[in-house]
Amino acid sequence: MTSFRTMFATIALATLPVLAPDLAHAAQGDPLVVIAELPELTERQAQGQALFQAECASCHGVAGAGRIGVGPPLVHSRYRPARQSNFSFQLALTNGKSPTLWRFGEMPARPDLSETQIKALIDYIRAVQRANGIR
Ligand code: HEC
Repeated sequence: MTSFRTMFATIALATLPVLAPDLAHAAQGDPLVVIAELPELTERQAQGQALFQAECASCHGVAGAGRIGVGPPLVHSRYRPARQSNFSFQLALTNGKSPTLWRFGEMPARPDLSETQIKALIDYIRAVQRANGIR
């Protein structure tokens, strides 16, 4: 019957791909969530990824994993589409957002980003979310 137990553990892990990090050894700037799956990206999502790494990862961490003491994870159920829509994401990017859901300070406004760039960024964030069971 060991196989049943193993199977259960495997299923439990598979349904919880975003795992709690080991906070006992965590340091400032470390990821806040573990991103278990990196999706295959469309061309537009890959453009979003490049932009994200250059402009957003300093606060939101690699692939949106968040950074301890710095910025929130975007691959988080708090940001699932039904809770924070693409429109909400778009507004935060165009107008900025004062601390609402977390205590990391301001999300800076990026009125310099084009509509195409914003769409690519959101498309990329949603792809990583979906790959990690946040839908
Ligand atoms: C200086 C740090 C910082 C940078 C750089 C930054 N953000 Fe944020 N962002 C934040 C913080 C802090 C929040 C959370 C605000 C709150 O408490 O609700 C946030 C929230 C968000 C949200 C959620 C908005 C909502 O619906 O509530 C999105 C999406 C987002 N950021 C995307 C981006 C993208 C894309 C970039 C790069 C272009 C970026 N951020 C750059 C700090 C930052």
